[in-house]
Amino acid sequence: MSAQRIAVLTSGGDAPGMNAALRAAALTAQRLGLRLFGVRDGFSGLIRGEFLALEDKDIGESIRRGGTQLGSARCPEFHERAARDQARLMLKSARIHHLLTIGGNGTLAGARALSDPAESAALLPELRVVGIPASIDNDIGYTSMAIGVDTAMNTIIEACDRIADTAQAHHRTFLIEVMGRDSGYLAMSASLAVGADVVLFREAGKSLEAQVAEICDAIAAARTRPNRRVIVLKSEGLSLSIDHLRQEVERELARRSAALATTEVRVVVLGHVVRGGSPSAFDRLMASRLGSAAIRALHSGRSSVMVAWNPTQDRRNLQHDPLDPRCWLIPLDEVERETQAMRAGQSQANKTRISIFEQIERILRP
Ligand code: F6P
Repeated sequence: MSAQRIAVLTSGGDAPGMNAALRAAALTAQRLGLRLFGVRDGFSGLIRGEFLALEDKDIGESIRRGGTQLGSARCPEFHERAARDQARLMLKSARIHHLLTIGGNGTLAGARALSDPAESAALLPELRVVGIPASIDNDIGYTSMAIGVDTAMNTIIEACDRIADTAQAHHRTFLIEVMGRDSGYLAMSASLAVGADVVLFREAGKSLEAQVAEICDAIAAARTRPNRRVIVLKSEGLSLSIDHLRQEVERELARRSAALATTEVRVVVLGHVVRGGSPSAFDRLMASRLGSAAIRALHSGRSSVMVAWNPTQDRRNLQHDPLDPRCWLIPLDEVERETQAMRAGQSQANKTRISIFEQIERILRP
């Protein structure tokens, strides 16, 4: 029967733990007597109708692999109604009426639009879509964590620890850029774990002069310590090139004193190194629980919701999965509103998160 067929896709930037979510979805579907189909390369593959039956052998070892075994893609054409209708037609012809999407804010927006009953009514009125949050950026409304964030933080910590060895040995300053297109979360949280001297991210709203002064103050302060190492984490989302930042820092050091002008300032951009790799224990665990809860939600008739992990919001009007008290079902349109508010700096929950971080960071700064 067609009601027993579910498709799953991963879309947008890959994130470690996507495969763990896929595996949990497959195992949960199996227990419930449902058939799960993978979709190749996200919404792009859905538009082309690229479904593949998922066998046990396909998912057996996947829990420990990074990336996504289904493949992924950015799919700007999914903003168009015509592309979504094409996807609905493909689902219909494959007799699949339920879809699980695993991805970041673009994927969740696509899931919301696809599941809109006003749009689906003509082609596929039975369509149900549930999403789970996966993005190393942690920039998705309502969920305190997204799949991939913990692994990315661990990767940053490992990289910074290695760089700190050289920084310490040669008394150097390193400016290290980490991913995060619209969100400074990775830089913010990793800076605490790394013991960075300075962290720069867009949401802090500081001027270039203030940021340069902060770095130079840290370099001056470090001269009183034996190792004189300085680690600065900069978020990719801060619209300031890291090379330009280095030039400004060197100019200011020279202006301050001849001694400070001798400081060696080096730049490292971690880039996609941060996004890959085997998922951490926490990402495997959370992804497994989210993937399983999502299939249960679809099976119980839910649609147009995201399964969030432990929301930071007031939970009185929210509902959690009957089995798993960490997994909460949030309407996708609310997720989209909150995500946009986060990006625009207008989300109360995010403002609170940043303000708590800034207070802690001030106390813990070396
Ligand atoms: O959204 C995750 C992310 O890794 C961002 O941090 C980064 O800006 C972006 O994806 C890079 O995307 P792409 O690999 O498509 O260039």
